[in-house]
Amino acid sequence: MGLTLKVSMKDKIQEIGKSAIEEIALAADADALEKVRVKYFGRKGLVTELFKQMVGVSSADRAEVGRLINSLKETVSKAFDEKAPSLSSGRDSRAQKIDITLPGIAREVGHIHPISKTIEEICSIFISLGFKVVEGPEIENEHYNFEALNIPLEHPSRDAFDTFYLDDKWLLRSHTSPVQARFMEKNKPPFAIVIPGKVYRPDATDASHSFMFHQVEGLVVSDNIKFSDLKGALTLFARQMFGEAIKMRFRPSFFPFTEPSAEVDISCILCKSTVHGPRSTEEKRCSLCGGKGWIEILGAGMVNPKIFKNVGYNPEKVTGFAFGMGVERIAILKYGITDIRMFFENDIRFLRQF
Ligand code: PHE
Repeated sequence: MGLTLKVSMKDKIQEIGKSAIEEIALAADADALEKVRVKYFGRKGLVTELFKQMVGVSSADRAEVGRLINSLKETVSKAFDEKAPSLSSGRDSRAQKIDITLPGIAREVGHIHPISKTIEEICSIFISLGFKVVEGPEIENEHYNFEALNIPLEHPSRDAFDTFYLDDKWLLRSHTSPVQARFMEKNKPPFAIVIPGKVYRPDATDASHSFMFHQVEGLVVSDNIKFSDLKGALTLFARQMFGEAIKMRFRPSFFPFTEPSAEVDISCILCKSTVHGPRSTEEKRCSLCGGKGWIEILGAGMVNPKIFKNVGYNPEKVTGFAFGMGVERIAILKYGITDIRMFFENDIRFLRQF
């Protein structure tokens, strides 16, 4: 008798489970699902009734039958919970229907900043010539920013007025050249490196000045580096950056850490007037080069032997060249931008164009 009861209870439990799951699956809206819930879990619901019938089960079978009913309750409850979120209540089901013809929400995709892009472009040209990329600290001390580079105490750039001093000794580097000395102290020639990074000068901000801007420094040291190597590397760089038709001009200049030094110009990429000589009349004057036909792009020179001594190299054995260029200036020329401030204002309309 106990066995029959147990078997029939078992069948019943299974049957109720099966029909409950089917009915839950078929429920077309929240109202229909609620009806199914009442049918099984209501005060006189089928599952509720099963619990009541437990009194008729022999004590030997009670534990097992109880377990079966409990697991049925769990399974069916879970089916209810899973189904519910997908249904809208009968009344506003139409209002809540998704209109798949509406345009979606466009995700904003960010992209690389024009300055980072220009740094990558400059570096990749030098990488293709065998250079390695090296970086250094933006907070620098007087030794690396000045002394190691042969910049004397009376030099104007050492005035607090011309440099951002943090205290008596530490400052925001005014150029990327200190990394030259830092690198040479730790490495032996031969090497060819480029050093991108931020530099700081307390200039009043206007269309062509910013208190913070970026430079890419270059340094090549080996046993027989000549000025012609410097000219060759920079000419190759300028042609890749601005086009094969570019002409180069090396003007004598002065930097305490290079000897001889040069300021390097490219022929004007806007008016291309060097071919015909400088423009004379006012109305013809080019807005980029002012009629001069040339635009300055960087400073360079052969590494001063004093710098080699400062870092413990033998100036009789090694020679090298160095250069430093302003990234904003290169980007302004390349993309025809009229105001350096545009790079730092975070105006999406400007940045999106690159
Ligand atoms: N450091 C120099 C500047 O900031 C540029 C430069 C670098 C010149 C390397 C010569 C050699 O103006």
